[in-house]
Amino acid sequence: MTTRVAVVGGGLIGLAVAWRCVQRGLDVTVYDAEEDKASTVAAGMLAPASEIQSGEQALQDLLRSGARRWPDFAAELARATGIELGYRDEGTLIVALTDDDLREVRRLCGLYERAGQPVHALTAQQLREREPLLTPRVRGGAYAPQDRQVDPRRVLAALRQAIGDRIVPRKITDLSIVDADVTVVAAGIGTRSLTGLPVRPVKGQTVRLTAPARPIRHVIRGYARSRTVYLVPRHDGELVIGATEEERGVDTSVTAGGVLDLLRPAADLLPEIVEYPVREIRAGLRPGTPDNAPILGALKAGVIVAAGHYRNGVLLTPVTADLVADLVATGVPPEQLKPFAPDREALWT
Ligand code: GLY
Repeated sequence: MTTRVAVVGGGLIGLAVAWRCVQRGLDVTVYDAEEDKASTVAAGMLAPASEIQSGEQALQDLLRSGARRWPDFAAELARATGIELGYRDEGTLIVALTDDDLREVRRLCGLYERAGQPVHALTAQQLREREPLLTPRVRGGAYAPQDRQVDPRRVLAALRQAIGDRIVPRKITDLSIVDADVTVVAAGIGTRSLTGLPVRPVKGQTVRLTAPARPIRHVIRGYARSRTVYLVPRHDGELVIGATEEERGVDTSVTAGGVLDLLRPAADLLPEIVEYPVREIRAGLRPGTPDNAPILGALKAGVIVAAGHYRNGVLLTPVTADLVADLVATGVPPEQLKPFAPDREALWT
């Protein structure tokens, strides 16, 4: 008999797991609460280098594995649905405005290199040759060639199309009512109330501007007077500026302070943006965990968790989908999932 799989959560992770499970011949239903999704606010940076925040090896390996899978995942999903996903591989420029910022950028580049991520130091002149709109005041920075981007809204639309009528619009508040052989909980910040696992909301505000023509080619991660900001240019002229990081519980309000924290450093680095019309300002909730790593694996018989991707949900979508679908299909956790098990000590200390 075909295994019946219920996926609770219709965000990027849930839909991608569902898609891979369908491809393995499983009978899949996705329960989508139709609430705001982190991926509709996310800028879509695929940043195995510049999102590294610590020396944690297993997470770095997973980020690299996510990055390696993105080109094929994007091509396959685009082919299956006819939706162009905005996957772009110009790389990321890491830019420092002041000498203090440059010291911080050099420290971070050391961390990226120790993690096996190539970064190339660039002078201020080299940065401005690549992106002429950068302020002449920049001090220097680096190029991370393997940091890429994709448009998460397009990915979400494509995955919804690929899953089709297997999506049921229903909010699940109690796993015991789900009728399936295997239930995958991919409910973002809703995972805590469903499972008791320590997933918390970490708010991020983003500003979207409309640029007149492609003003910059690369993603820019800027350090400006100790503030960090990233600018992500899309082909259609949208420029996404992100993102704040705020511990405020379930709060998706947009605040003047949040917008200031984004626009001030962004305009310090790229003065021209003050002329661009504002297209949208939104706040989303990243699913954070105590050790900043996702929770992936069996919680108990018949229940698997795929949640807590924090700042790396988009990057980790393809690798999570492959590994979790393997676990669903075989009942055996792939080796790469083991450090992220729901019973790991780091979640509870
Ligand atoms: N990955 C970028 C962010 O979470 O803001």
